[in-house]
Amino acid sequence: MSPEQITNPAKAEGLQDMLASAGYSETAISYYIRKPYMGSIPDADQVSDMTGSCGDTMSIYLKLDGDIVTDAKYQVMGCAGAVSAAMAAVDLIRGKTLDYARSLNDGDVFKVLQKIPEKKHHCIQLAVKTLHKALDEYKNGGCRDRNPH
Ligand code: FES
Repeated sequence: MSPEQITNPAKAEGLQDMLASAGYSETAISYYIRKPYMGSIPDADQVSDMTGSCGDTMSIYLKLDGDIVTDAKYQVMGCAGAVSAAMAAVDLIRGKTLDYARSLNDGDVFKVLQKIPEKKHHCIQLAVKTLHKALDEYKNGGCRDRNPH
């Protein structure tokens, strides 16, 4: 589904119904449709990518001020579960410390989403693992080059 289709109210309603019947909560659907933290941060302090077992890929951009995550965005080439999990993860870490963000786990994100199809739970893992990878890379010297090694 293209972004144009999602911003069309009639199509968005159809999409909402489809996702609801697939097992997504209203909260998860709202994150997927609104995509509040989708995109990139040009002056990010850390950019990291990860590919999940399903073959889908995410990039995370972190903006930091000392020990605080001031902003974060994801680029997601993945499913609705992956998008909603990534957006929820950002809401959980914005304004929080690096340690708090590193301690975030799949259950924390699932609690926010409330309900997504069981076969999509690995998509939450991908969002969290991408975040953890970025934080670990930052701690180990930081890295903004997407293909450094
Ligand atoms: Fe690959 Fe959801 S991220 S199926």
